[in-house]
Amino acid sequence: MNKHSTIPAPVMHQDLRHDSGHKHVSGRAEYIDDMVEPVGTLHAYLALSDRAHAEIVAIDFEAVRTAPGVFGILTADDIPGENDVSPSHKHDEPIFAVGKVHFWGQPIFAVIGETREAARRAARLARITWRDLPAALDVDAARAAGGTLVTEPLTLRRGDVEAGLEAAPRRIKGRIAIGGQDHFYLEGQIAFAIPGEDEDVIIHSSTQHPSEVQLMVAHVLGISQHAVTVNVRRMGGGFGGKETQGNLFAAVAALAAKRWNRPVKIRPDRDDDMQATGKRHDFVVDYDVGYDDDGRIQAVDAVYAARCGFSSDLSGPVTDRALFHADNAYWYPAVKVRSEPLYTNTVSNTAFRGFGGPQGMMAAERWIEDIAYGLGKDPLDIRKANFYGTDDRNVTPYHQTVTDNIIGRLVDELETSSDYQARRKAVLAFNTMGGVLRKGIALTPVKFGISFTATWYNQAGALVHVYRDGSIHLSHGGTEMGQGLYIKVAQVLADAFGVGLEAIKIMATTTGKVPNTSATAASSGSDLNGMAAYDAARQIKARLAAHAARIYEVAEADVAWVPGGIMAGRQFVAFSELVASAYLSRVQLSAAGFYKTPDIHWDRANGRGRPFYYFAYGASVSEVTIDTLTGEYTVDRVDILHDVGRSLNPVIDLGQIEGGFIQGMGWLTTEELVWDARGQLRTHAPSTYKIPLASDVPPIFNVRLAEWSQNREMTIGRSKAVGEPPLMLAMSVVEALSMAVASEADYRVAPRLDTPVTPERVLMGIKRMRTERPA
Ligand code: MTE
Ligand code: MOS
Repeated sequence: MNKHSTIPAPVMHQDLRHDSGHKHVSGRAEYIDDMVEPVGTLHAYLALSDRAHAEIVAIDFEAVRTAPGVFGILTADDIPGENDVSPSHKHDEPIFAVGKVHFWGQPIFAVIGETREAARRAARLARITWRDLPAALDVDAARAAGGTLVTEPLTLRRGDVEAGLEAAPRRIKGRIAIGGQDHFYLEGQIAFAIPGEDEDVIIHSSTQHPSEVQLMVAHVLGISQHAVTVNVRRMGGGFGGKETQGNLFAAVAALAAKRWNRPVKIRPDRDDDMQATGKRHDFVVDYDVGYDDDGRIQAVDAVYAARCGFSSDLSGPVTDRALFHADNAYWYPAVKVRSEPLYTNTVSNTAFRGFGGPQGMMAAERWIEDIAYGLGKDPLDIRKANFYGTDDRNVTPYHQTVTDNIIGRLVDELETSSDYQARRKAVLAFNTMGGVLRKGIALTPVKFGISFTATWYNQAGALVHVYRDGSIHLSHGGTEMGQGLYIKVAQVLADAFGVGLEAIKIMATTTGKVPNTSATAASSGSDLNGMAAYDAARQIKARLAAHAARIYEVAEADVAWVPGGIMAGRQFVAFSELVASAYLSRVQLSAAGFYKTPDIHWDRANGRGRPFYYFAYGASVSEVTIDTLTGEYTVDRVDILHDVGRSLNPVIDLGQIEGGFIQGMGWLTTEELVWDARGQLRTHAPSTYKIPLASDVPPIFNVRLAEWSQNREMTIGRSKAVGEPPLMLAMSVVEALSMAVASEADYRVAPRLDTPVTPERVLMGIKRMRTERPA
């Protein structure tokens, strides 16, 4: 028989390398810009606004039109359908600005060139007459200008906050500013559109959300969705930055492709990508917290203002998720939290790993720290005193009961395995010796809610074909951005059929195979698509089992699936043999699978429900050394214990945890976005925007999975989502830096460092400590 009939070992829960790992490292993984260009391919380039807020009085295209290599110009007038790619369907996100620009970097028109370079050069040659308007660039300016919101704010409330604050023996008020973050995916935004007959168009898009690109392009071209096919083989990173931000590029490529009936590619330079596409929202959180002499929180009242930029995009759900994580792992007896999603004259901020959750959690850690330094205690003791309970003290600000709490066990184990107590003593002793260097150590928890809070998004489809020889095509709605979703779903399918991984071909994601999919986001890719693929396998297996019962004349109950095939009574039949015979008996060997997450619901108007199917937990300990003369620092050691339930693929999950932590550390320490007074982003290249390097990985980096954990819910293989939660493990770096700074004031003043905690902020913190230090 053929190679698919040997007895395969189960592959779920095993360490398996990423299916494209060898191609990533050898340069053989094909990205859109690597695709062979058909003859006649044209290149589009965007012309971007160099005003933050202004009326467009007139545009003179003469110099653009006559520039060498220019094939055509695309403006809003060339759009047959709607000039809008707003994912929230608020119609507030034009492809090309009409009459007015709202931020520096907003697309105004596109040049179509014979080469990319020709289009890029010509895009700068338009002469635009402007009438400047007042621009509000950040949260404070937006509030001063009247506080226009881009979307409806949310309030979560439980208990009597006013009474709780009044009655609390101690009270702190404060503010924390939390910076944004550029995604810095290695492959930038890109789309390649190939026109077909009639209204058809095929688009290769670097997107986490092919179905939405399909819908947007259909709207923009004024055609049905069925004419648009969107293909995604892989992304060179997305991190949320390609959940909606690819829409515009796909729309421009499709518009030009249909207008001129030529293939059209669009790929902005990194500088333009950084200026024209949205980032993580920066937040300003104002809080009022009451607590008792033991550091137990009595009441929390806080407002979460976010710089949303000029349009709604995903700012509604992002600011909602900030509130959903205002508790991190802590129980608040009384709480009121409110979001303020502000319109600003900056690029429209968007999804980024954690989706607002990290900002909400950073604020929670801030008041924990305030309380600890106020009481002169180890912040870890304050954290423990406020953790959610297991039987009581377990209701969240959105009235969901936490039923799967394991934070206590995780933190205890990490405290021991990292030798936290002894090391904290050593750090305290080191700092009393004086000298230029100071150390800090901190342990912080993570609790992250899994599910899209837009409940309808929690659905997925798959399409599985079994061919006559027993080989299999696997398609599902999820996209691969490096996170390892494809291999995980293939593992699920391999074990479902009892075949080896080599029997399964992982197909590129396309809207033509699986329709109406959700974005691969909210860390739910494997939860949703794994189950959908499993459902497709279940259907095919049921048909095969019935067939086997017929052929081998046994009761269906006597047919059992075993690795490599089935047992029909006492007879073993190899999978490929079974399939070959089923084909001849005209058994359907293809199935569409479907899954929707059960038991979740969310009533936004009343702020109540069960928005999350379950929670993922984790904890980390970071130790740092700062130089009190320069503010420079090193992260010397990091220990992580993280919960992924029963891991589908431990090495992939460890990779997600390590990468997530480092990306979070970049967000919270070195990645600083700076806009100048005119609204131009000045940090639009790696020369000015400092992402972590391989050399920034801590020299001691102990990362472990909580191997005893299993998802209490019926997720695929009892696993848990892993994509986003580890990013927030990096909060321990901030808290450790804070401790080192606080040593300058005998740990009696909370340093209140805003993020990113750059060396400058550390230095300013030290200066402040010296003046605020109690006598
Ligand atoms: N890992 C890699 N290598 N590249 C990425 O772009 N995106 C993250 C995370 N891990 C990302 C990644 C984000 S923001 C999310 S929501 C999840 O992966 C999405 O994939 P999943 O749902 O399959 O975990
Ligand atoms: Mo991830 S921010 O949900 O794409």
